[in-house]
Amino acid sequence: MTTTPRTMRAILQRTPVMPILTIHHAQWAGDLAQALVQGGITVFEVVMRTPQSVAALRAMLEATPEADIGLGTLMTAEDVHTARQAGAKFGVSPGLTPELAAAIQDTPFPFLPGVATASEVMQARAWGLKELKYFPAQGPVGAGWIKDMSGVFPDVLFCPTGGIRPPDIPVYLKLPNCCTVGGSWVVPTELLNDRDWAGITALAQQASAFGVR
Ligand code: 3PG
Repeated sequence: MTTTPRTMRAILQRTPVMPILTIHHAQWAGDLAQALVQGGITVFEVVMRTPQSVAALRAMLEATPEADIGLGTLMTAEDVHTARQAGAKFGVSPGLTPELAAAIQDTPFPFLPGVATASEVMQARAWGLKELKYFPAQGPVGAGWIKDMSGVFPDVLFCPTGGIRPPDIPVYLKLPNCCTVGGSWVVPTELLNDRDWAGITALAQQASAFGVR
């Protein structure tokens, strides 16, 4: 049975927290994905900052086909091609360039590019992109910026990342233009290195509970 891929907006609406994962050992990635899904988290981003990231993404897609797993830190059209080839359900970038925008427009692909100014939001909208990562959010500080953008760009949904920890999350999620925050805290390096899947599931449960309102 084939299923229609979700839009970027629908992907964000699936989760209050999107774990951001740096994976050095692809052989653990399937177990990691299962630990997250068991904790109620079905959207996560693997960053393309290690040699194992693409292999890890593939292993996770196989282990948890119900999850929407994206590839992050896409910087070039070639990175977008790599993400698509690997089967990523979406792509994430810390910023947005004409090269990236063209790559997404050539073949539509759910994409979450980063912005940090009103001008960058305007440029992204001109390219038809209305789901944007706000980076760097600097913990709770970015909530004020996102709130200010809601009046000017009511059609844009923001996903803040960068320094956001659990106590900051409710401040963001009560904003009308933010339904998801990104963060690496759901999978701490120590728990991953110890392959503490139960510990990671417990943190995923804590993360998914932010969606219960
Ligand atoms: C990233 O893209 O790596 C994020 O901004 C992660 O931020 P965090 O580690 O502070 O959650």
